[in-house]
Amino acid sequence: MPESRIREPAAAEAGRGSFIGGAGSTTDASVELMRLINAYQLSQALHVAASLGVADHLKDGPQTSDTLAQACGADPGSLYRLMRALAAVGIFHEAKGQRFSLTTLGACLTGDAPGSRRDYARWIGTPGMWQSWGNLLHSVRTGEGAAEFTAGVDAWTYRDQHPEERAVFDAAMTALSRAEAQAVIEAYDFGRFGCIVDIGGGEGQLLTAILLACPGAEGILFDQPKVAASAKRVLSSAGLGQRCEAVGGDFFESVPGGGDAYVMKSVLHDWDNAAAARILRSCRRAMPPGASLLAIERLVGPPNEDPSGKFFDLNMLVQYGAQERTREEFQALLRIGGFDLIDVVTTRSALSIIVATPSPAE
Ligand SMILES: C[S@@+](CC[C@H](N)C(=O)[O-])C[C@H]1O[C@@H](n2cnc3c(N)ncnc32)[C@H](O)[C@@H]1O
Repeated sequence: MPESRIREPAAAEAGRGSFIGGAGSTTDASVELMRLINAYQLSQALHVAASLGVADHLKDGPQTSDTLAQACGADPGSLYRLMRALAAVGIFHEAKGQRFSLTTLGACLTGDAPGSRRDYARWIGTPGMWQSWGNLLHSVRTGEGAAEFTAGVDAWTYRDQHPEERAVFDAAMTALSRAEAQAVIEAYDFGRFGCIVDIGGGEGQLLTAILLACPGAEGILFDQPKVAASAKRVLSSAGLGQRCEAVGGDFFESVPGGGDAYVMKSVLHDWDNAAAARILRSCRRAMPPGASLLAIERLVGPPNEDPSGKFFDLNMLVQYGAQERTREEFQALLRIGGFDLIDVVTTRSALSIIVATPSPAE
């Protein structure tokens, strides 16, 4: 290749020194590339460790891999090989006699760690997710989601048909949402609103956190009927039964009226522009004058930066034929949906709060 066509990757993009790859790999492009090519092995190894609950078994102190194998229901020799591989990349620490303990990274694989990644790691290796990524080539060739190509139905229907995978997905989303909700309420004063409607509010982690932080506010959670029913239980058990309703429905048809703020977290990224604009238009029709829209989403960063945002974007492509968006893309989408973007508030998580108001021309 002519030298002018070779570019040095930005440090963040290169993500050097973290996982598969030996000493000296940072000076050797071919070895570094091999490390990146083999990164799928680490994802699957973490998925297996999380599915077996290995880290949870190490919470009370070091264990030999034989004892762990018995506790987790695994083959002792094979579990030892998994553990030593993960110890080699800093997830566990291996001491004499095949004894393993948790490192700081490994502690995040326990179920009750703050910011636990256990359920997320369990989810990425479920057949629906793993096989969809196996068909990324189809998505890139056609622009279609790979989940539907792989399973014959869209990702939502697939999970409805596979309740065991749905349970893992729900647990992963709940864990993610809990951590993100905290970051969102720290970054924005929701106390200025009397009635907050959470569109596609899931099981209610965000609305629960907002209402607990804002005792003067009332809430309406809106989601598909089955999800709204389980959100109702979450909200009641947080003592919010009197201050919050859970309403089931379809946001492509209509959403509840009368709110001062319409919050929508991690919803627009599930849809392509045409569908996302339809959801926005439903909100626009329901919103009283002066109400605010707060879309809480990941903003894709500038060229050569933000690998995590850009790989999340590919995940949305594979899963739903959908996308993460840049600030400019959100601005254009909001305009089509009948809104003006007025502010973007960053949080300490990867999510930003995109504040919009109904366009006066509508
Ligand atoms: C990625 S989840 C986000 C959930 C929640 N906002 C959060 O951040 O954890 C998207 C949500 O949209 C809901 N949803 C999908 N299609 C819907 C529809 N047609 N009408 C209402 N809600 C829908 C899903 O049930 C799900 O709870």
